[in-house]
Amino acid sequence: MIEIRSLRKEYITKKSRVVGVDDVSLTIQKGEIFGIVGYSGAGKSSLIRSINLLERPTKGQVIIDGVDLTKLSGKALRKQRLKIGMIFQHFSLISSKTVFDNVAFALKAAHQSPEAIRKRVLELLEMVGLSDKKDVYPAQLSGGQKQRVGIARALANNPTVLLCDEATSALDPTTTKAILQLLKKINKEFGITIVLITHEMEVVKELCHRVAVMQDGRIIEEGDVYGVFAQPKQALTKQFIESVLDFELPSHLIRESKGSIIKIQFEGQLASEAVLSDLLQEHPVKANILHGKIEYIQNIPLGILIVELTGNTNDIQAALDYINKRTSYVEVIHHA
Ligand SMILES: Nc1ncnc2c1ncn2[C@@H]1O[C@H](COP(=O)(O)OP(=O)(O)O)[C@@H](O)[C@H]1O
Ligand SMILES: [Mg+2]
Repeated sequence: MIEIRSLRKEYITKKSRVVGVDDVSLTIQKGEIFGIVGYSGAGKSSLIRSINLLERPTKGQVIIDGVDLTKLSGKALRKQRLKIGMIFQHFSLISSKTVFDNVAFALKAAHQSPEAIRKRVLELLEMVGLSDKKDVYPAQLSGGQKQRVGIARALANNPTVLLCDEATSALDPTTTKAILQLLKKINKEFGITIVLITHEMEVVKELCHRVAVMQDGRIIEEGDVYGVFAQPKQALTKQFIESVLDFELPSHLIRESKGSIIKIQFEGQLASEAVLSDLLQEHPVKANILHGKIEYIQNIPLGILIVELTGNTNDIQAALDYINKRTSYVEVIHHA
């Protein structure tokens, strides 16, 4: 378990003092994949780098499995850090070393015998699917392959925590999916806690169990991923969600509509068709479906339906009340 308590990180430069993280408290459970999203400059890297003390917090505590890292230094800190692996946006591989040696380097730092190192490196490369690349140099690898080396290196010492700082931000969408699948597998097979920061909500949707949204050094919203997607509270969170759940209606459709255009959201097993057909049986209105989409988040469906209702004003209002009762969310986008 990772407990972050009242963490603050300030950067003091000659001219100014910049607050990177402003009083963040967060508990991340063992075996969980926890996402932190926010725009550039929100303080995500400052926060994640505080977890392994790559940045020393100005104030506050970072407690991992009961050990307060902020109380440690030197050898004791280095020992605890072996339990925390990290991967980076630009991979941070050593270009003059082969794939094998990049991974072995992490183990040498942990003082193991050459035979033990060789065995472990081959095992790690097998796990990330790079056995055939062990003797090549990073320059000969694709971005996705480089990140696989980064992952193998990060896992070398059997960490209990893996920190990912924009680990897929330099990769194309297909490669991103493959790397996210690998991270998912690592989390499942080894029970490693993963903390992942990203500016892409799509990544959170694919991978995370819980998510926190950061803005100006603070966490402004936090919750399980399905709940945050289905019912975001803060404006910024809504913005991030829209990048995944977005829909576009041709503007003439809205302009020329003689009825009410509504957005209905269905959560989990609430069947959208049933609600609409029941509605039409009980209310003298017409319903015209303009757009429909179902996203699966954590394997639970989240459906969005855009419907145009036509009829007289009272009937439309009664229909809206009915839908409101039967679904989790209704919004009127346009009234004729
Ligand atoms: N080494 C540093 N020195 C001075 N300011 C920094 C340093 N690192 C980050 N910052 C500042 O801290 C704030 C948060 O940055 P960062 O943690 O990198 O955000 P993010 O990862 O969300 O883009 C920004 O205003 C950034 O300019
Ligand atoms: Mg960053």
